[in-house]
Amino acid sequence: MTRADIQTTADGTKLFMEVLAGKKSSVVPFWFMRQAGRYLPEYRELRARKGGFLELVIDPVAACDVTMQPVRRFGMDAAILFSDILVVPMALGQSLEFSEGEGPILNPIRLESDFEKLDYTRFSESLNPIYQTLKNVRSALQREGFEETALIGFAGSPWTVAAYMIEGRGSKDFSAAKLMMQENPVLFEKIITAVTDATIDYLLKQLEAGAEVLQLFDSWAGLLDAEQFKKWVIKPTKKITDKIHVKHPDVKIVGFPRGAGFHYETYADSAGIDALGLDPAVGMDRARALQKLMPVQGNLDPNLLLEGGVALDTGVDRVLRGLSGGPFIFNLGHGIDKNTPVENVERMIRRVKDFRT
Ligand code: CP3
Repeated sequence: MTRADIQTTADGTKLFMEVLAGKKSSVVPFWFMRQAGRYLPEYRELRARKGGFLELVIDPVAACDVTMQPVRRFGMDAAILFSDILVVPMALGQSLEFSEGEGPILNPIRLESDFEKLDYTRFSESLNPIYQTLKNVRSALQREGFEETALIGFAGSPWTVAAYMIEGRGSKDFSAAKLMMQENPVLFEKIITAVTDATIDYLLKQLEAGAEVLQLFDSWAGLLDAEQFKKWVIKPTKKITDKIHVKHPDVKIVGFPRGAGFHYETYADSAGIDALGLDPAVGMDRARALQKLMPVQGNLDPNLLLEGGVALDTGVDRVLRGLSGGPFIFNLGHGIDKNTPVENVERMIRRVKDFRT
């Protein structure tokens, strides 16, 4: 029997979606964050040919190809749209560049007058190439024989996206964004509201274009204290999940509040998400407690993929044994590093595919 046979459930529903709906499975479905990217030679080749990362993102044929690359190579249970969380500010008219070795650079929003320059009128239209990518991926999955592979759409959570919009670049502490939160809460709230409303529109259109599951990336959730977390993570996230669920009650939304530590429980209880992405710092006992609340996804330390060998095997086994007793999707606890050797990825996947509860 092939894995494809095992994966298709009796009524033809996809295993990935069944697990997100709360079913426990003897075969563990998997995908991993940043599965399409620089560790793959075929990605580097296409990116060089197209001239850059954003050029790939806004080209629906190239972005579809990049989305499919890891699926063709490794047969994940889910493909994730190839795009970036920062296309939302870009579509709101904020300048965005990705410079080699520096990450994203945006023209920072620090004053009311910067905020007023955002342009909502072309938001939806600017994102048309991304909706087209999703349509292309749905047909590519069918055409290439990946009928059981689910398609994940995504967005950044408002706090994380706003943090980049205000800071203007990546940062370890996002001090400008946190300063605005304290010193100019009125402007900060306007930015959060603008991103939240834009994200709702964006995610609803992703679903119309063929996304089957959604993930919200809140990479910088860990920078906030309990009160800030409730106000700037939980509240806007709940607004998004409520709006999506009203229109699409069956669509599952995975929330990934990276680094949220002891706020994970609050997040699972009150953000309106259906499944929880765990970062590597969440220990197995707590992960199992969270899994009693909802399906979990995670949380292999991506550094183990740089190391490979027995260290990697031990890490993979620890996660598989720890979480396969309940609804569980194997993933990394954060995005894969660009220096990851492909053979280590193959080794990890073989172990996950061979595992049975
Ligand atoms: O997971 C996937 O394969 C889907 C595609 C995806 C990308 N970015 C592609 C990408 C997703 C889901 C993201 C999310 C994203 N983007 C997040 C949240 C998750 C996380 O990593 O915390 C954040 C914070 C961003 C913003 C962003 N985009 C940064 C900080 C960077 C530079 C860092 C880096 O790795 O160079 C990017 C660039 C980016 N986004 C790349 C890819 C494949 C690398 C671009 C390249 O040089 O080819």
